[in-house]
Amino acid sequence: MAEASAPSSNKDDSEGHGHVVAKHYNELQESGRDMRYDSRIFYMRNFNNWIKSVVIGETLSSLKKQSRSQRDISVLDLCSGKGGDLLKWKKGNITKIVCTDIAGTSVEQSEKRYKDMVDRERFKDRVFSAEFITADCSKTRLKDLYKDPEMKFDITSCQFSFHYCFESYNQAEMMLRNAVECLNLGGYFIGTTPNSQELVRRLRDSDDLSFGNDVYKVTYKSDDKTNIPLFGAEYNFHLEGVVDCPEFLVFFPVLEKMAEKHGMKLIYKTPFGEYFEHFVQDRDYKHLLSKMSALEMYPADEGNKLMGNADTEYEHVRLFLEQESKKDDRSESRDQQYRRPRTVGTLSKAEWEAVTLYCVFMFQKVKDLKTGEEWQETTVTETFRKRPADEPLLTSPPKVLKDT
Ligand SMILES: C[S@@+](CC[C@H](N)C(=O)[O-])C[C@H]1O[C@@H](n2cnc3c(N)ncnc32)[C@H](O)[C@@H]1O
Repeated sequence: MAEASAPSSNKDDSEGHGHVVAKHYNELQESGRDMRYDSRIFYMRNFNNWIKSVVIGETLSSLKKQSRSQRDISVLDLCSGKGGDLLKWKKGNITKIVCTDIAGTSVEQSEKRYKDMVDRERFKDRVFSAEFITADCSKTRLKDLYKDPEMKFDITSCQFSFHYCFESYNQAEMMLRNAVECLNLGGYFIGTTPNSQELVRRLRDSDDLSFGNDVYKVTYKSDDKTNIPLFGAEYNFHLEGVVDCPEFLVFFPVLEKMAEKHGMKLIYKTPFGEYFEHFVQDRDYKHLLSKMSALEMYPADEGNKLMGNADTEYEHVRLFLEQESKKDDRSESRDQQYRRPRTVGTLSKAEWEAVTLYCVFMFQKVKDLKTGEEWQETTVTETFRKRPADEPLLTSPPKVLKDT
């Protein structure tokens, strides 16, 4: 069967918002650990990083369950930014990574991050090898740029970035082609992206063209909230100190159909809230939450302040602690009560509203379009329920009791 067709290069690179996005990310300062702590969204950023760690960890473990599991693992990090996931891939023991992004300064910073990582290592040859490419991945065919033109990947990871390509059909098609054309049969395309279903729901619920809170603000560009186009449905996304960029709605049913033409099958697409609820049950991932400071402790330690407004943003944990305390009164002796944990990991209401705008997705290559070969193995991965379009998302932020 013929390969799904896409232009090998979208001719006019100056067209569209690519340069605005590249400029924005190039100018974004890398913040040190302390500065990040000052940020209103310190915990939310860590939480998002935790989600990425889980997605990456779960994908690697699905890959290791495959029959060819002994082989080396190669990864394409599509829209890799400043290389924020390099350590996660190192922990996953991969062999090779190609990092690519439209923002040249970010690519340079990620290359430096990689070199520093290797320098810190005693056994340098044990660190995966890496290649760095600056390119607009929605307009340039990456296969032509790899050092090895026959390069094959086991995983393509596109974190918090895929939505930029839904500016036009050609851009989405090129980005998708880049994501999947060099994947091995059985390989995965994973990512995190704003959940258009939820964005549109909040947009239609709002009185005007914008919605948000003190952490994020979404402003839809067109004044027609009814007829939303499949491509080029532009909104501005403002996230406190991190993002202020034009973005585009990604209609998942459309993406799913486009991906099918490339031999890809959607394994799951699930909102962050649900993904969190599922994996927080896992002991190791729960431990990782506290290691990564992915939740804020309530109440705050003496001398510390909560990130959000203490009166309005933590009602969910206050009620939760009250209920827990009533349970204790009913069931335990005074001694045991005294030892009960009284600290809960959570996120402020405003951060949770921003977090629940996103979803995690996973596709798998089930057909090689060149050879016609099909993937025969059962895919061993967590399965998530398909949600009806109008089902409201989890509205209450996390409440994770700190272990004693
Ligand atoms: C929110 S950042 C995420 C970076 C990284 N994936 C992470 O999770 O830390 C979005 C990234 O997408 C990149 N990007 C946006 N449009 C792009 C395009 N057309 N081609 C390549 N990179 C793009 C931006 O430059 C930016 O680095």
